[in-house]
Amino acid sequence: MHNEIDLDKIEISAEPPAEEPARQYYFMAKCREWVREFERKNGRRPTAFTQTFGCQMNARDSEKLTGILMSAGYQMSDSEEADFVIYNTCTVRENANNRVYGRLGTLHGYKKKNPAMKIALCGCMMQEPSVVQKLKESYRFVDLIFGTHNIYKFAELLAKTLTADSMTVDIWEETDQIVEELPVERNYTFKSGVNIMYGCNNFCSYCIVPYVRGRERSREKDEILAEIRQLAADGVVEIMLLGQNVNSYGKNLDHPITFAQLLCEAAQIPGIERIRFMTSHPKDLSDELIAVMRDSKKICRHLHLPLQSGSSRILKMMNRRYDKEHYLALVEKLRAAMSDLALTTDIIVGFPGETEEDFEETMDVVRQAQFDSAFTFLYSKRTGTPAAAMENQVPEDVAKERFDRLLKEVQQIAAKKAGALTGQTLPVLAEEINRQDPQLLTGRLSNNSVVHFPGNAEMIGKIWNVKLVSCKGFYYLGDLP
Ligand code: 5AD
Ligand code: SF4
Repeated sequence: MHNEIDLDKIEISAEPPAEEPARQYYFMAKCREWVREFERKNGRRPTAFTQTFGCQMNARDSEKLTGILMSAGYQMSDSEEADFVIYNTCTVRENANNRVYGRLGTLHGYKKKNPAMKIALCGCMMQEPSVVQKLKESYRFVDLIFGTHNIYKFAELLAKTLTADSMTVDIWEETDQIVEELPVERNYTFKSGVNIMYGCNNFCSYCIVPYVRGRERSREKDEILAEIRQLAADGVVEIMLLGQNVNSYGKNLDHPITFAQLLCEAAQIPGIERIRFMTSHPKDLSDELIAVMRDSKKICRHLHLPLQSGSSRILKMMNRRYDKEHYLALVEKLRAAMSDLALTTDIIVGFPGETEEDFEETMDVVRQAQFDSAFTFLYSKRTGTPAAAMENQVPEDVAKERFDRLLKEVQQIAAKKAGALTGQTLPVLAEEINRQDPQLLTGRLSNNSVVHFPGNAEMIGKIWNVKLVSCKGFYYLGDLP
């Protein structure tokens, strides 16, 4: 874990410092004191459980939550029957919210058995006032609620919650602050996400993200590069640069730079063998970026480029600011520059006003673009977004029927494309022991395809040349040559 500050040297009887991140280290030290007291009384350390819903950005945030809990002295647990449980929530679609409410019921049961248990909720869902209202009214057993803008204050909020007997709620509407350099407990020793920007300014008409994650803020290039150098020194070989719209990185910095320039500099850091990034917006994908990807051995041969719809009319209503032709032209350029590129996408079915003709346009792009895989979503109405107020909401059965047709098409194309590399010998990053067969390792190619090959735990975290012997559906079986 990356945490160079000795908490035991912090004077916790003094007033907390005002500046960050020193203030948070002070509260971590306070929490640690509380944990020691718990240990004295109970003869064991308190346990904690972190559950992530949603995207890669939330996964990275949860690594930070876990880092703080571990610094405070908590024993991380795989069980939700822990002394401290935190859900890092997502609200991009309604069903994400419903899952949280469902699981809170179970947590309430655990808390009845262990009344000292503390339950915390954070993340995107908490930025919705209606959600907080509902929790305050009907879920009084929740101890702590905070949002996306003040997640860096987790240590301070935890310290408060540990000694409070009523619900602590701290939600900010926005922030221009970025506080980093807090402890992080990475899920993997050899790969890591790196936030390069927060928030989103695009306001796609269906999307709640700009409302819950706030305006776009890029981190300073030098801070990002310093973090990557530190990760490399810790043994990380693969990084994933994270942002809602990485292609607009750096535009609002005092010394503006492009995402492509950032990638070039990151690729020069010794020890970093692979660089991925997520997510790209078609309207901002530059020729410069395509050229940088093409010319770099370290930038992975995978691009996630959300299409959302193939109909120019719907794209306009979605406020995506590109049309079908522009998207297809991008695909052509990308394939011409990198014949081995895996292209993946997101597609929404049933956006308000979508007709059968519009849907056929989406199917047409899917057939032309030949995506290696696609995440397909039924449109979900998010209160407060422009699309929620649009007329002609598509009936559920119509949307579902289109969704099934799309999924079938997407899967057929993906199945046809999988296996194209059979017979080649390619570098694979060994990530874990295969869950079914402990004689095998599971790893990934540069294009993100999964490969299972013989090996042992010592090989994890390194890149191996593997001969792709056969393709079984969506993964390869390989052999070390
Ligand atoms: N309904 C359905 N899917 C959505 N997405 C974002 N908002 C919605 C919504 N309201 C999808 C988009 C985005 C992905 C992360 O989630 O496809 O790219
Ligand atoms: Fe949502 Fe559009 Fe921003 Fe992506 S780019 S987070 S879909 S508003």
